[in-house]
Amino acid sequence: MQFDSVADILAGKKTGQTVHLRGWVHRHRASGGKLAFVVLRDGSGTVQCTVKGGVADPDSLAMAVRAKLEASVSSLEGTVAADERAPGGFEVKVARFTLHEPNGPTGDFPLRGEQGTEFELDMRHLWLRSTELSAILRIKHRLYKAVHDFYDREGFTQVDPSVITTNACEGGSTLFTFDYFGQTAYLSQSAQMYLEGCIFGLPKVYSITPSFRAEKSRTTKHLTEFHHLEAEYAWWNAEDSRVHQEKLVTYMAQTIARECAADLILLKQDPARLAKIGTFQPGEGGEDIDGKRFPRIDYSQAVDRLKQLGFHVNYGDDFGVPHEKALTEGKVNPLFICDWPANIKAFYMAEKPGTDRVLCSDMMGPDGFGELIGGSQRSEDVVSMERRLLAQWKAMAQSKDFDDRRQFKHEWEAIAARLGENATDEAIEQAYLKPYQWYFDLRRYGSVPHSGFGLGIERVLRWFTGQEHIRDMLPYPRTPARAYP
Ligand code: 4AD
Ligand code: MG
Repeated sequence: MQFDSVADILAGKKTGQTVHLRGWVHRHRASGGKLAFVVLRDGSGTVQCTVKGGVADPDSLAMAVRAKLEASVSSLEGTVAADERAPGGFEVKVARFTLHEPNGPTGDFPLRGEQGTEFELDMRHLWLRSTELSAILRIKHRLYKAVHDFYDREGFTQVDPSVITTNACEGGSTLFTFDYFGQTAYLSQSAQMYLEGCIFGLPKVYSITPSFRAEKSRTTKHLTEFHHLEAEYAWWNAEDSRVHQEKLVTYMAQTIARECAADLILLKQDPARLAKIGTFQPGEGGEDIDGKRFPRIDYSQAVDRLKQLGFHVNYGDDFGVPHEKALTEGKVNPLFICDWPANIKAFYMAEKPGTDRVLCSDMMGPDGFGELIGGSQRSEDVVSMERRLLAQWKAMAQSKDFDDRRQFKHEWEAIAARLGENATDEAIEQAYLKPYQWYFDLRRYGSVPHSGFGLGIERVLRWFTGQEHIRDMLPYPRTPARAYP
């Protein structure tokens, strides 16, 4: 049997015709034994179906009357009528209606709405039927395709770095540690270092992998598992990278605006908002040049601007949500904040000669959507990188964060125990640097200036879909409080 789709009905392609549908009872209302209204959902949309005595045969009517919420409808035959009163503007007048009931009648569907976020998260496996989540996941699918199309056109090769690693890329206490056949290993925070190893054979590479952060911060922007689009390219400097990042994000926004209009509207978003991203916005500080329409400001300019706005922030501070919001409020395009102080950024970023800064930028989404991309030119100086790695490791011992201090103590003591009698401070430090030696080899043999970045897919999707919480960007979100279902 060939089945029709609800989407075609809603597009007006089936009006006046007989259709065959299958799906689930999305909403249900029956009055007496003679009439049932079933909103049927088939994955392409929802449509109102009226089952009436006289039009439908008696068995069909009886089934439709007793159908429960979320019961599966194995076949429905009816005629499509345009009806302005029906949601979506169409109605199916049902002649035949059959339920699929493998184990007899089922219980009442547990989700009724308005039962609270925690309950809905416990019931995530059932909540996934929501039309909003389906719309978000369809947009995400298109976003992935846009990424692959973009990189194919730009001559990049997709590679698959492992997510099992013995190196901390971003460091600190956000590492998930596990036992890998007797050896301590981590779930990857970033594919960056592995991508850097690929550019000598394939100068332009990208990957999409899950990245893991044991972030204790419970915010609307943090997941413990997110999808990380990362790219790395030989010979490009930090500004080349920004031009590229801007083109990528513009292409993503334009594609979604064009191809996902119906889903955006379902999510109460105006596709025109996305269509503007990447267009020149006079007054926002960008230039009307391809790849330079997103404004760039220097870190110290950002500090000055925040001071003018009344914030108590000093040179050398990292920014928080209120700062990000103040800098990006009411804007159309994202903002690059460039060249941050080295001591608040990762060890692998190239130093800006003659300054205490590094050649990097964070791309901040407008209206406080927060950091979308972190990118930098990579250091080629092994001595400097070793020094900064050690400094940042030892700074954990003095951290305000208890987990940082515990992590440092644990790592230090584990190395000391392994070295036994030879455990001098210097030997411990050398042992700490050992797992990074393969990475430093990349500087020892044919090193090139190079740059790269990481983009949080769920962060960008949250911005595009205008949603409150990042967890709804994934079917099964992982946060500190939740690994079930
Ligand atoms: O700024 P981050 O930590 O940079 C890196 O990991 C680099 N090694 C990437 C690279 O250069 N290849 O993370 C990059 C991006 C952030 O800008 C953010 O969009 C996203 O990853 N991200 C998260 N998304 C959701 N939940 C979290 N906990 C995230 N942490 C980072
Ligand atoms: Mg970052």
